[in-house]
Amino acid sequence: MEDEEDISEYLQTGGKLLGMGVDGCVFMPPLLCKGDTKAERGKLTGKLGLSEYIQPEYKIMKYITETIPHAEEYFKVLKGKQNPCKIAPLEDQIERPMELEMCFSESETVSAYDLGRLRMLTMSYGGEPLKAPGSITARTDYWAFGRHLLEGATLLMAYGVVHADLHSNNLLVKNGLPIIFDFSSSYFVRSSRDIKERDLEHIFRRKVTSIDDISGRNQHPPEVVLFNGLFNNYSIKEDLESIFKERRPIINLMEIYLGVSKEDLINQINDYRKSTNYFERDPNIVEWWKHHWHTYDAYSIGYILLKLMLNMERIGVDLTAKYGSVKMKKMKTALQGLLNFNCVKRFNAAQALAIWDSADNKIIKKHATKWL
Ligand SMILES: Nc1ncnc2c1ncn2[C@@H]1O[C@H](COP(=O)(O)OP(=O)(O)OP(=O)(O)O)[C@@H](O)[C@H]1O
Ligand SMILES: [Mg+2]
Repeated sequence: MEDEEDISEYLQTGGKLLGMGVDGCVFMPPLLCKGDTKAERGKLTGKLGLSEYIQPEYKIMKYITETIPHAEEYFKVLKGKQNPCKIAPLEDQIERPMELEMCFSESETVSAYDLGRLRMLTMSYGGEPLKAPGSITARTDYWAFGRHLLEGATLLMAYGVVHADLHSNNLLVKNGLPIIFDFSSSYFVRSSRDIKERDLEHIFRRKVTSIDDISGRNQHPPEVVLFNGLFNNYSIKEDLESIFKERRPIINLMEIYLGVSKEDLINQINDYRKSTNYFERDPNIVEWWKHHWHTYDAYSIGYILLKLMLNMERIGVDLTAKYGSVKMKKMKTALQGLLNFNCVKRFNAAQALAIWDSADNKIIKKHATKWL
């Protein structure tokens, strides 16, 4: 075959490929940056991608690293002296990643030779993602995990960042607590004023090939499905059917753990539809975003924590026995609020945290009282 190239010369020792995303790869240790002669010390990772994808993520990470208090406790922050860096020529690499070529195999425009277009973000290694088997054990403190996640989300909200892609593969578990990372889809809220529809295009899709594609990801709030359906000329009825089909697992969990029935959810979504004029043929998602951005990550967190509740039970933990019925009820009330299908009534992260823990929580008191 003509494009069956011998890649063996790129296969090097060292440099473990930690993860492969749509737009790049994460290596440990990182590659050598241009101008450096020595690798950075410490247990570091390098996220490698095309400059146009890495640059926006860098801006958000720099802001988080420099501006958000306690950033290191809650988020993966930048490390190293060159960020983002250009990659040193392959022949200078001390430890070259084995799979550099493989990393971009899906992208036709990038090859291992095209180093000039690549940038790398260096950060410290942060543990296994929540999705990895074994990241959660019977010793995991579910309540503390939830509090920590809500505190992180409260800080992001208070400092005007929407992560926009929170799911169990974008949380690292360190000492039993979640660290939020992968800001590749994130937004600054202070620029919401100038936000354009195309900035939101990874969430809202004007062209889908089938009804199943309007759902977006399951951890995205349900109104996203309604908007995507309307964009693509599906009826509200078809959109609702799609929500209840695609999201059946989480809807079942809401019924079992939170006592929220399918009818309750339909009522919530219908109440929202009646209270807004966004559900016209051509929904104004930019306006929706300006008003409701703070409920976006909140829904995803409810989704993550409810699924984790099931997983804790699956590994044999009886949460009610462990935490008592009062604490359990508070956690469930917070989850109900986060997962409300009506985004006007949905709790933001601070409101959920005030119930999960208390309004005296130190992160709320210092940074987010105005969000309660
Ligand atoms: N600092 C880190 N410490 C430990 N593991 C990491 C770190 N950064 C990334 N990883 C691993 O690499 C994977 C991909 O990283 P990340 O989510 O940042 O990249 P991505 O290209 O945006 O991925 P995707 O498109 O799949 O979301 C993660 O799911 C995680 O397993
Ligand atoms: Mg990711």
